[in-house]
Amino acid sequence: MLTEPSALVVRATLPAVGAAIEDITGLFYEKLFAAHPELLRDLFNRGNQAAGSQRQALAGSVAAFATYLVDHPEDRPDVMLRRIAHKHASLGVRPEQYPVVHEHLFAAIAEVLGDAVTPEVAAAWDEVYWLMANALIAIETRLYEQRQVVDGDVWREWEVVARTEETPDVASFRLRPADDRPAPDFRAGQYVSVQVRLADGARQIRQYSLTDAPGPETRSIAVKRVHGTAATPDGEVSCHLHEHVRVGDRLRLSAPYGELTLDPDGAPLLLASAGIGNTPMLAMLGQLHADGHTGRVTVVHADRSPDTHALRAEHEALTAKLPGATAHFWYERPGSGHRTGLVDLADVPVAAGTRAYLCGPLPFMRAVRGQLLDKGVAAADIHYEVFGPDLWLAAG
Ligand SMILES: Cc1cc2nc3c(=O)[nH]c(=O)nc-3n(C[C@H](O)[C@H](O)[C@H](O)COP(=O)(O)OP(=O)(O)OC[C@H]3O[C@@H](n4cnc5c(N)ncnc54)[C@H](O)[C@@H]3O)c2cc1C
Ligand code: HEM
Repeated sequence: MLTEPSALVVRATLPAVGAAIEDITGLFYEKLFAAHPELLRDLFNRGNQAAGSQRQALAGSVAAFATYLVDHPEDRPDVMLRRIAHKHASLGVRPEQYPVVHEHLFAAIAEVLGDAVTPEVAAAWDEVYWLMANALIAIETRLYEQRQVVDGDVWREWEVVARTEETPDVASFRLRPADDRPAPDFRAGQYVSVQVRLADGARQIRQYSLTDAPGPETRSIAVKRVHGTAATPDGEVSCHLHEHVRVGDRLRLSAPYGELTLDPDGAPLLLASAGIGNTPMLAMLGQLHADGHTGRVTVVHADRSPDTHALRAEHEALTAKLPGATAHFWYERPGSGHRTGLVDLADVPVAAGTRAYLCGPLPFMRAVRGQLLDKGVAAADIHYEVFGPDLWLAAG
């Protein structure tokens, strides 16, 4: 909770900070990476940095946190904090790194806002930063304890025991721990970070959802190759995995984390995905099957065509195994024998009290969320995963 005087100062300066936040975060990253080049090489996603997307995510979250604090003095934005903390934990972010981020963030604020940053203003924003940082550190500490991670060392070596070309652009990898320890437990819907060493020596990290229900020995991921365009390069890690990783090779995986998990309370479920966004849904369907779930499950998926729909056979088979489940697949290309065009839930029954899980590109999730709200699904019952920095909330 913010102290009263700080709350007044933060409220008064939020518009100025909000207006300058992109400049502040741009300068912040410049300063951070100048002082610590290893963070850009080995921890942050340099593609996101080059494209500018991660900058907006951090800026959006600090401004959103401050706004929340002044509007709800007794409360805190738990959903946002938890999703950042899960991402941080999957990357091995450590408490001692927070003062480093603080130093460069506040140097950037002072430089961009100049004389407006009186000692009083600096102290009030300092309080905001440490409230947020300490809340994140507390959640991250618990997440590390849950997975027996010591000193943020989330990494273990895994061996690829199978590789399958699912579609021309999607390969799946089945992995087994390369050490003698058992595979860590996880909840269906969670992801791991994969860390690869690239040709220039950089170690880049990306997240991939686990596609199987939690089982004893192996874990699977399905990776879509990100093609470049005239204006953008090929995706670094997805292309590396497609081009260089074969059966018998090793991969470094983090402990599993992530917030998009099922609540076992018997509510009707709707699992809506598009493209490679079906990966967490497959694990959830597998989990429901393993649990003998008999309740209503509505499976919605959108893809370009049946041929691009990765793990389609599994998606169909798992749905068919659940007695209360129905599948609704849409393909943009006509002639597939299924519904064509974009997802339209008009004639899909959505039961009262439905809890929805969404994963796919932002325009798809916005459209589905809007349709679900129109059908009476509560906003708090719509959960989602973004396969990139979460710009959804930041963008409103
Ligand atoms: C929780 C979570 C779960 C995920 N699960 C899955 C999954 O199950 N399967 C899956 O396939 N993916 C998944 N992803 C996405 C995955 O983590 C990667 O983001 C994806 O594989 C792309 O990574 P990349 O290294 O190949 O691309 P990157 O190198 O990170 O590039 C990403 C984009 O940025 C663009 N870019 C890079 N540099 C520039 C530049 N200078 N200017 C402009 N644009 C630029 C690239 O062209 C590309 O379009 C998940 C992501 C998250 C956060
Ligand atoms: C109060 C301080 C911090 C805030 C508010 C913050 C906020 C965020 C947010 C909003 C994201 C995006 C989450 C998402 O993907 O949806 C993120 C990701 C990330 N954070 Fe933090 N963070 C903080 C501290 C740190 C620290 C101390 C480190 C370590 C040096 C760190 C490293 C990262 C990395 C590596 C990512 C992923 C970036 C990427 O993939 O490009 N963060 N953080």
